[in-house]
Amino acid sequence: MTSSLAVSSVESLLPDGLLAFLGCSTPDSWVEAALANPELLLIDHAQCEKKAASTAMSLLYRYVDFPELLKCMAQLAREELLHFEQVLKIMEERGIVYRHLTASRYAEGLRRHVRAKEPERLVDILIIGAFIEARSCERFAALIPHLDASLARFYRGLVKSEGRHYEDYLMLARQACGEADSQAFASRLAFFAAREAELINTRDPEFRFHSGVPA
Ligand SMILES: [Fe+2]
Ligand SMILES: [Fe+2]
Repeated sequence: MTSSLAVSSVESLLPDGLLAFLGCSTPDSWVEAALANPELLLIDHAQCEKKAASTAMSLLYRYVDFPELLKCMAQLAREELLHFEQVLKIMEERGIVYRHLTASRYAEGLRRHVRAKEPERLVDILIIGAFIEARSCERFAALIPHLDASLARFYRGLVKSEGRHYEDYLMLARQACGEADSQAFASRLAFFAAREAELINTRDPEFRFHSGVPA
């Protein structure tokens, strides 16, 4: 069984403010489903790393006049692809075969709220990036106390890098929004925090890395 000491030592790896940024914690029922579906968890995790790299690449193509974004996204894309390779290696060691999975409802459930006009579009995409990274980080931390030593070690490293990605996305979103608009920015953060919490706290027919309450 998990000791409260183990949980709190994992939580200390999370960036300050991350848990408050998220509107809710991962439900225990999701952690139980993840432990009952280790293959699905790793395959979808691999998929998420690949998708994170591709999102960063598409931002590199679209927003060439935002130097800070280019710098952060180039590094992020490399790190996510490295994570992808690392998950593939772990899957191979465990005899898990990579296969295509349908996408979770999560990312699309956030992206459907992206505004069409710039710079609002970019602000929303970056805020969503911050939520996806923050949730990933929180879920890795929630899983660590229950995992075998080698997967726990790997996920500890990921908590640190995904925590940094959350901070980078949030910093870029703030810059894209502009200092003068701090109230508009805060209300957009609150809007996405509520949407994200709905996706996490409502029943979800498909188990995935970012799925809601198991149906
Ligand atoms: Fe990653
Ligand atoms: Fe990340």
